[in-house]
Amino acid sequence: MSKITKVLIDENKIKERVRELGAEISRDYQGKDILMIGILRGSVIFFADLIREINCNVVIDFISVSSYGASHKTTGEVRMMKDLDEAVDGKDVVIVEDIVDTGLTLQYLKKVLLSRNPNSLKVCCLLDKPERRKVEISSDYLGFTIPNEFVVGYGFDYAQKYRNLKDICVLDPKG
Ligand code: PRP
Repeated sequence: MSKITKVLIDENKIKERVRELGAEISRDYQGKDILMIGILRGSVIFFADLIREINCNVVIDFISVSSYGASHKTTGEVRMMKDLDEAVDGKDVVIVEDIVDTGLTLQYLKKVLLSRNPNSLKVCCLLDKPERRKVEISSDYLGFTIPNEFVVGYGFDYAQKYRNLKDICVLDPKG
């Protein structure tokens, strides 16, 4: 069993912050086309909300990476499961992630995408759990810094469930 113990960030707070992030990105990329890359699956809800707050030309694409279950947290191994359809060369690229935890996924993604010669590469991440970091990496645009708690909702899952909750909640897996 598992139990939701509290709402950490409610729907309205998320909306407000996503609006601010969208405005910030729109300002920084004025007059440019942005290739926005969502990282499956957790970021899709944030991604869908964020791109609608951006008033530049946006092309969307998705990447899926596997962490071999949770094993990359110990081995550092990340593998590409689904690559982009779009070319990155010469583009202004923004990676949209739901959370930076150990930082290993983002480190891998940045390395892969930088090797394809984008004009620029930035990261927009909804949550950051700095206490869990294993490699030094940070986002250019960040929604919220959170404590080391297990979160579900607004894209975040526990055993693939709870992604559809409107708030970001704390879950006690032992319930
Ligand atoms: C989560 C999250 C990030 C990654 C962050 O993905 O969406 O992609 O882990 O962790 P890290 O900083 O320690 O690498 P997960 O593998 O749970 O897949 P999901 O997006 O499908 O939920």
